[in-house]
Amino acid sequence: MKPWNDPTWKNAMRVRLAMGNVFEEAVGPEGGITRVQLESLYDRLRAIQREIAVKREAGALPFLDLPKQEISSILACVEQNRPKFETFVVLGIGGSALGNIACHTALRHPYHNFLPADSRGGMRIEVADNIDPDRITGLFDTLDLPRTLFNVITKSGSTAETASTFLAVKKLLQDHPRIGPGWREHVIVTTDPVAGDLRKFASREGLVSFDIPQGVGGRFSVLTPVGLLSAAMSGIDIEELLAGAADAVEYHARVPAEKCPAFAGAALHYLMYNHARAPKRLAVMMPYSHALKDVADWFRQLWAESLGKEKALDGTIVNVGPTPIKALGVTDQHSQVQLYIEGPNDKLFTFIETETFRNDLVLPSDNDLADLGAFNYFAGKTLGQLLHAEQKATTLALTRRQRPNMTFSMKEVRPYTVGQLFMLLEIQTVVAGALFGINPFDQPGVEAGKVATYALMDRPGYENEKRAIEQEISAQAEWVL
Ligand code: PA5
Repeated sequence: MKPWNDPTWKNAMRVRLAMGNVFEEAVGPEGGITRVQLESLYDRLRAIQREIAVKREAGALPFLDLPKQEISSILACVEQNRPKFETFVVLGIGGSALGNIACHTALRHPYHNFLPADSRGGMRIEVADNIDPDRITGLFDTLDLPRTLFNVITKSGSTAETASTFLAVKKLLQDHPRIGPGWREHVIVTTDPVAGDLRKFASREGLVSFDIPQGVGGRFSVLTPVGLLSAAMSGIDIEELLAGAADAVEYHARVPAEKCPAFAGAALHYLMYNHARAPKRLAVMMPYSHALKDVADWFRQLWAESLGKEKALDGTIVNVGPTPIKALGVTDQHSQVQLYIEGPNDKLFTFIETETFRNDLVLPSDNDLADLGAFNYFAGKTLGQLLHAEQKATTLALTRRQRPNMTFSMKEVRPYTVGQLFMLLEIQTVVAGALFGINPFDQPGVEAGKVATYALMDRPGYENEKRAIEQEISAQAEWVL
């Protein structure tokens, strides 16, 4: 039996939230909130939980149903392609890239791409999520094209970065002496089931394709084929990933809202943002696990694009949204923590910790260094112990200086716990959206930037927009030093 099928795994979250250090008794009135403030939100949280259940029932929150999706076509595609290809390159950006990167960093060997094929357990993964020409041509330099499979991912089917990179890749494949007309076998498309130019093109050319379910936006799409295909290609157990996410959904539907980490997390962010004495408008996520560093990057987009909004649901201008910041323990202790401890008290910290690591390293005793205090106390201790000690030390230092902090903890980083964490943070985002009174699923600011790019690059249909931009630019005062 797979461990997550054990009934005892079904009734508890494997990712827990420790939140004692957000209250006034731990971090004082400048840093903390009172328990009464949190309790005063319980009714609202329960109402949001009911609203979520109703919307889910009506099919309006399809990201919550992703854990139950059929994955046989993804697994079949992996089976078919893994023997033929060595490298899997994702072409995508934003929600069509960050989940892939997060899964890969969390769940594969930290040097996965450098391992020989027989110990790697899956294809090499690259994610081309920036169009900087040095980066893209640099990536092309490393690829053995006949052994490379590309996955073009764009929900809209038209994002300029992805469309342009795909054009370059298609030419590269077609020009290759051993590929030419066989380029179609090297391309898999993941896009909207019906709409968009990429869907049109995939149908016309008969390309292998996967659907991003309608109603699931980019930043909520890690558990669709967007994230699952590259995960499975690299050897991640996606069945387990989805099992973790499924249990997180059920837990947050069944258990009273105030006892659920996603609801509590959202409430704390909301209260801290509106803190009467010292508002915490910045939200730092700091995993103490290198494997989880890109989960913080994925979350940064989820939190920023979902909550950063000009208008409330009723149309009033609110210009609301906490600014997410990613940091990494212990690396950023030597970069950011001075600011965090002594700078403005305007941040809420979320640590993520894992009790165990896939490997640990016992430090040796060394006679050459035995008389030197900087070295000799390590003998017999592990790097994992040192990392945990440093995390405790940072938490303590922040708490002493009245900086509110909370911690998501898990026993181990594995597909099940990562699936739970993804889902927990997605639900937390939706709950926070409800508390802030905004729509967490749109991104009008990003769309405006996309339109301006199309205009500046002469995309047909955007002529008026181009004229408006040119007028604006010519009216801008030049001030160049
Ligand atoms: O969350 C979102 O919707 C965005 O960040 C998109 O993922 C991003 O803009 C890329 O869009 P697309 O998948 O349409 O290329």
